[in-house]
Amino acid sequence: MPRGAAWPLVFRWGWSMEQIVILDFGSQYTQVIARRIRECNVFCLIHPWDTRADRLAALGPRGLILSGGPASVYAPEAPRPDPGIFDLGVPILGICYGLQLIAQEMRGKVEPGDKREYGKGTLRIARRGCPLFRGLPGTLQVWNSHGDRLTRLPRGFESVAVTENSDYAAIEHRSRRIYGLQFHPEVVHTPRGAEILANFVHGICGCGRDWTMRRYADQAVEEIRTQVGSERVILGLSGGVDSSVAAALLHRAVGDQLTCIFVNNGLLRAREAELVQEVFGRHFRIRLAYVDASRRFLRRLKGVTDPERKRKIIGRTFVEVFEESASKVGRARYLAQGTLYPDVIESVPIGGNPAAVIKSHHNVGGLPRRMLLRLVEPLKCLFKDEVRRLGMELGLPREIVYRQPFPGPGLAVRILGEVTPARLGMLREADRIVVEEMKSSGWYYRIWQSFAVLLPVRSVGVMGDERTYQFTVVLRVVDSRDGMTADWVRLPSALLERLSNRIINEVKGVNRVCLDLSSKPPATIEWE
Ligand code: XMP
Repeated sequence: MPRGAAWPLVFRWGWSMEQIVILDFGSQYTQVIARRIRECNVFCLIHPWDTRADRLAALGPRGLILSGGPASVYAPEAPRPDPGIFDLGVPILGICYGLQLIAQEMRGKVEPGDKREYGKGTLRIARRGCPLFRGLPGTLQVWNSHGDRLTRLPRGFESVAVTENSDYAAIEHRSRRIYGLQFHPEVVHTPRGAEILANFVHGICGCGRDWTMRRYADQAVEEIRTQVGSERVILGLSGGVDSSVAAALLHRAVGDQLTCIFVNNGLLRAREAELVQEVFGRHFRIRLAYVDASRRFLRRLKGVTDPERKRKIIGRTFVEVFEESASKVGRARYLAQGTLYPDVIESVPIGGNPAAVIKSHHNVGGLPRRMLLRLVEPLKCLFKDEVRRLGMELGLPREIVYRQPFPGPGLAVRILGEVTPARLGMLREADRIVVEEMKSSGWYYRIWQSFAVLLPVRSVGVMGDERTYQFTVVLRVVDSRDGMTADWVRLPSALLERLSNRIINEVKGVNRVCLDLSSKPPATIEWE
């Protein structure tokens, strides 16, 4: 969506609530600020740093937060906000680069520090009574990450806290309600930082605690009804968290006007098709078109070993099958998708090309346009943890709401080389054992992903008196925040032993189990 265009209707959700606006100056922590604010049960949205003040005013925010960012405020191409934001009359909190912007705008002085202040520091409150630090002790552990620093306070400001390297680690202009923090209150390394942000949104901006998933569900239901009217909606249900929560929400809003299409591509985990039919068909009584296209997928994958070709075949076949079954639903006008907020946050590059960069996100890209469908994206302003809470609120089972990510191309990316029914059978069995053991030991919900990979490599073994020549399974168990980087998990050796024993004993055709000890980067999570 180009910047300046009207948000789609779904984005009106939340606008009837009190909200905080975060202006993004490119910090890697901007989304973390948003999540911390929402954990205070206060709605907030992230907008690009160059959003005009009149547009912000139209949103009626209760407060503004200026994020950190990689630039230096005195660099010629440094991103600077519309000066009109300081006249909106709402409280403003600048974090790191945000503080330096405030200081510069108000004619203080920012200079390059002698050395970059990075890492843990100790903050000492120098002047009691600042509402940002209400209820907090006199010294706090904080996290710094900045090169420049404030060296002269702007007029009307006072320093309220200091660190070893800065006399102005926290500043305030009490009557104008403008605050600045040199450190990052949003990160976990500032243990009491969430309380500082809570003081800002509740104590200074006066926000209540309206943002709850129960309330969101009620509002979303109203919005969906308004948007969709009496038209039919289709939704591609994968059994993953996002499409499942979207399905439950849409169903609550429009009941039988919704048809979910679940495509069995033959690359699913054991009992996956049954679980989806049981939960959505029998429990929720959602109209569910179950399409078993596994033979078509497997026929096309025959003899294919190149990972990219496999992915392309699976993607193309999925669109084909989905279109065929959607055309049978009868005059659907809307396609619902479980797009999440991090997929749509607009970001404006800092320096250089001023055009908006928008991440592509549509799982079934191109489908809506080809099928002349309009999109309904009811999760578009939610973070993943909020989607999970919404899922529980809507009565979805924990098994679905808290499941680990599973790639769209399914087990095909976990079978190296050719995908055959026999190999799928082996991997499905091994995967079932991994899920069972991870769940019964309590590890499944603690980590990002745990799964088995089948290698097309055979090696010699013995079983009883016989020599065997069989395949190898690799265990991949990783932890991650967002899938972009990952580290391998140090599982207890007793659990590893059990996994290995069970896979070798129970999966016919496998005589060896290995453990993957690589992090991402340089490895990826999936093997492909
Ligand atoms: P990699 O292997 O790139 O995976 O480190 C990162 C995360 O993305 C998941 N993944 C996918 N998810 N469709 C998906 O919905 C896909 O095609 C796909 N490929 C990888 C992977 O499981 C991991 O969590």
